[in-house]
Amino acid sequence: MKMIDGRAVAEELKNVLKQQVQEYEKNSGRVPHLAAILVGNHPASQAYVGNKVRACEQVGFRSTLIRLPETVSEEELLLEIEKLNADPEVDGFIVQLPLPAHISEVNVTLQIDYRKDVDGFHPVNFGRMAQGLPCFLPATPYGITMLLDRYHISTGGKHVVVLGRSNIVGTPISLLLSRKGMDATVTLTHSRTKNLDEYLSKADILIVAIGIPNFVNERMVKEGAVVIDVGINRVPDPKDDQKSILVGDVDYHEVKDKCSYITPVPGGVGPMTVMGLLMNTFKAATRQIYP
Ligand code: GUN
Repeated sequence: MKMIDGRAVAEELKNVLKQQVQEYEKNSGRVPHLAAILVGNHPASQAYVGNKVRACEQVGFRSTLIRLPETVSEEELLLEIEKLNADPEVDGFIVQLPLPAHISEVNVTLQIDYRKDVDGFHPVNFGRMAQGLPCFLPATPYGITMLLDRYHISTGGKHVVVLGRSNIVGTPISLLLSRKGMDATVTLTHSRTKNLDEYLSKADILIVAIGIPNFVNERMVKEGAVVIDVGINRVPDPKDDQKSILVGDVDYHEVKDKCSYITPVPGGVGPMTVMGLLMNTFKAATRQIYP
């Protein structure tokens, strides 16, 4: 088994991006600018947004964090989005999900100008991705493709099985990998799939984004498979019940000796999601997708 070190790959890519930012600053007199809206005090979301802001600092981007209270109305949030849409100083922005139950994620996503949608969640970007047109790719699927590329893991003709059909991971990665150029044969499975184990155990490349701690065990994985674990779950530490630890959707210790490659949690896909966001923001600033 070879561990896929997402943290190390993200560091390498950040160093390359940092050089590109310096070049861009020399030519334009400004640096790329990412804004993030964080609603409420969701602990995981605060940590994720903190990572994104820190990553901006590392590569020389400007960043703006807009914090709104849990009680903010949908209307007020939509107005904040309008301000960012209209602000020529902001190249791209994200609204961290999940949102409180009284706010519609669909309405929020639709309000974002697709030319600044560096999360790639707007239906214009999603549709363009599905048709193989230039677009902002969703950050996690984008990060996964960069990881596979860095480890020379080809997808052409491979059987990729995706577990989980969310709008931000499972559905887009299944479309992306079946596109021309990636050329995988993709099976998209989910919580209602019958005989799930049979599908999972046929995967050459297994991508798991189901949100259930340690769900995938050794019996579900084919000998020599590549396992990409997107899950980030906080669970009680079995060694100390006062503490908690992060685990993936894959039981790493059970599966690691059966597969050829595996991503750890933390330090696998997570840092690459942040990298995907940085790459999209650079593309927004340099008008690479929408001139
Ligand atoms: N919540 C979990 N993942 C993401 C992400 O990639 N972007 C945003 N905006 N929210 C998330």
